[in-house]
Amino acid sequence: MPSPKLAVLASGRGSNYKAIQEAILNDQLDAEIIILITDKEKAPAREIARSNGTEEMYIPYDRKDREVFEREAARIIKEKDVDLVILAGFMRLITPYFINEFEGRMLNIHPSLLPNFKGLDAQTQAFEAGVKEAGCTVHVVTEEMDAGPIISQRKVPVFENDTVEALSARILVEEHILYPEAISKYWDSVA
Ligand code: GRF
Repeated sequence: MPSPKLAVLASGRGSNYKAIQEAILNDQLDAEIIILITDKEKAPAREIARSNGTEEMYIPYDRKDREVFEREAARIIKEKDVDLVILAGFMRLITPYFINEFEGRMLNIHPSLLPNFKGLDAQTQAFEAGVKEAGCTVHVVTEEMDAGPIISQRKVPVFENDTVEALSARILVEEHILYPEAISKYWDSVA
């Protein structure tokens, strides 16, 4: 079975992007990142991609017309014959147009044990709810936010005297293990 070609969308620090890139370099994930697309000109993820010689592209984002970004991103992704679209800290709402373009081929990582704590600041939501266990989820993207079919999850404990910062860092460590594993698992199930 051929390995999947990935397009990654990221907005920020890019630690999940980096984890995927490193998993590929270390032969833990059989895949190829074809392009990184970002909506933020200064996204650190761009430098991470460049440092590995991976194509990266900034497309300006207009909140008044979300589809401008999406149409351009979709055009490029299709041109490059990508298999999976990987949302790795892409901090924008995605319209039904883009979801339909890549139905069943777009994954997202969310820092909670879905279906709990959807949306923004999931780690804070979990912390404030007083749960004993938190974690992260990789799921297929569907029209309802953070609600598509779950591929995999990893759990972490929430300690007495914990802080949101410490909990978030603990979850992030697991995200970096989870995303490459989930990409591989999902590709095996659909390819
Ligand atoms: C991660 O916590 C991810 O779960 C969420 O956004 C954050 C992105 O972090 N969707 P990074 O840019 O990958 O470091």
